Amino acid sequence: MILKKDIITDKNPLLRNRSVDVTFPLSKEDEQTIQDMIKYIDMSQDNDLSLKYDLQPGVGLAAPQIGVLKKMFVVKAEDEKGVLHHYALINPKLLSHSVQDSYLASGEGCLSVPTSHEGFVKRHYKIKMSGYDYLTKQDVVISVKGYISIIIQHEYDHLFGILYYDHIDKKNPLVPIEGAIEVV
Ligand code: NI
Repeated sequence: MILKKDIITDKNPLLRNRSVDVTFPLSKEDEQTIQDMIKYIDMSQDNDLSLKYDLQPGVGLAAPQIGVLKKMFVVKAEDEKGVLHHYALINPKLLSHSVQDSYLASGEGCLSVPTSHEGFVKRHYKIKMSGYDYLTKQDVVISVKGYISIIIQHEYDHLFGILYYDHIDKKNPLVPIEGAIEVV
């Protein structure tokens, strides 16, 4: 079980490393890791359990955030229409993205970043990503836009040691990004 103490913060240089591909068939250890990540996100979104275990609610978690430098992340969130998107992607690969940019109106946050970094984060509006989905146990190609696309890009960045605030314009953090769709 993953607890607050198991999630490393941006003070830990491990978070800045690149992750490696996961090998198939999955090892017992890798299976345990992805299962623990799925469980953490589920529990963190449950009011009673998050209080009981002092879990910070999250819509996504990438393996490097628990110190495992392997290409895996979990996303669980509702899109703008209230449709739930739940993925546990292994070896995700960004296949394509829109020219159109976007950014989250409220800015982004991260379980590994305890201090707030105000500012807009430029993201692709739409993306297409492949990977093995551990939840459905099959290879998938996911096409998403808006909020879910932003979350997935945030988690994908973790696999390359990139944090959301790396993308914030240091001089003009809160100037709306030109030509980008504001996602609310
Ligand atoms: Ni994050």
